[in-house]
Amino acid sequence: MSLLLNGKPVADKIKAYLKEQFQTLETPAKMKLIQVKGDPASSYYVQNIIRNGKKLGAVVELVELEEDSTTQELLEIIHDANTDPSVHGIMIQEPLPKHMDVLKVNAAIDPCKDIDALNPVNMGHIMMGINSLTPCTPTAVFATLRYYKIPTQGEHVAIIGRSDVVGKPLANMLLRKAEFADATVTVLHSRSSQLKELTRQADILVAAVGRAGFVTEDMIGENTVIIDVGINEQIDAEGKVSFVGDVDFNACVGKALAITPVPGGIGTITSAILFLNLLRAVKGVQKDNKTIDDFLTLIFVGNHDE
Ligand SMILES: NC(=O)c1ccc[n+]([C@@H]2O[C@H](COP(=O)([O-])OP(=O)(O)OC[C@H]3O[C@@H](n4cnc5c(N)ncnc54)[C@H](OP(=O)(O)O)[C@@H]3O)[C@@H](O)[C@H]2O)c1
Repeated sequence: MSLLLNGKPVADKIKAYLKEQFQTLETPAKMKLIQVKGDPASSYYVQNIIRNGKKLGAVVELVELEEDSTTQELLEIIHDANTDPSVHGIMIQEPLPKHMDVLKVNAAIDPCKDIDALNPVNMGHIMMGINSLTPCTPTAVFATLRYYKIPTQGEHVAIIGRSDVVGKPLANMLLRKAEFADATVTVLHSRSSQLKELTRQADILVAAVGRAGFVTEDMIGENTVIIDVGINEQIDAEGKVSFVGDVDFNACVGKALAITPVPGGIGTITSAILFLNLLRAVKGVQKDNKTIDDFLTLIFVGNHDE
């Protein structure tokens, strides 16, 4: 039976650290959370962020825009948040309506307040191995590997998916010359040939495809560690909604060395990482000079007072 890599103990450890850290701040950490109405699933995530903020002792200020708002209106709100010294982090809830220019929006966020790390400046920093804020989901994958002591140095990590949010930043983070990275990375996508041959060779397989049960037993080896990033909504005949991953969990759980569940895996950790980024933004990434690896060491290994 595979080792189950549950997200809860990882998230709990991060949250306990954050609660302690937020309490020590002279002025409360504040996140400006901006949502453009129109996507019902987004409201669930927004409420979850607000709830987490309350529990951790950080202020989450929600700004809601109507669905027909323009990119310019959103840019003005971002500008206000950029120049407001009481705001430490800015989070734009995606997806944005199709008529909005997502690239322009992400590029407008002050990179020092960019707690979802989608600004091209932060993306470039990640690619070049410069210390910066890091995107939440790839960082949640890192936190899982660190917590469960799964080494990456010299290991072959195959990632299915090349999105700007998950696949590409994760690949670049794993490629860094660092103790907890240094991996050999293969990035696969919808045009990849020999996908199965390549995934079978992976020591660690990350699925970020957006297709329920995409990874099947014949795509993995006996010693593969599977990280399932996927969150796919499923509605049964009675209209009951549930969420499944990009991995056929039941088929792979007996064969893989270890596997993350969905729900209860990477998604559980992602929201804690958003607040870790808020803390990093409060401290100032350059001023503080601690990398995400340093923070994960502090959280999982120890001394919080350092
Ligand atoms: N856990 C979390 O916190 C979290 C956060 C974000 C996203 N997610 C979930 O993670 C999944 C991926 O999200 P995303 O935003 O990265 O999705 P995305 O932007 O839709 O990207 C999906 C990627 O999968 C590739 N792909 C699609 N079909 C494929 C196929 N048949 N063979 C090989 N590759 C294929 C696509 O290839 P092309 O580039 O060639 O199109 C693309 O690179 C989704 O289920 C999403 O809900 C979870």
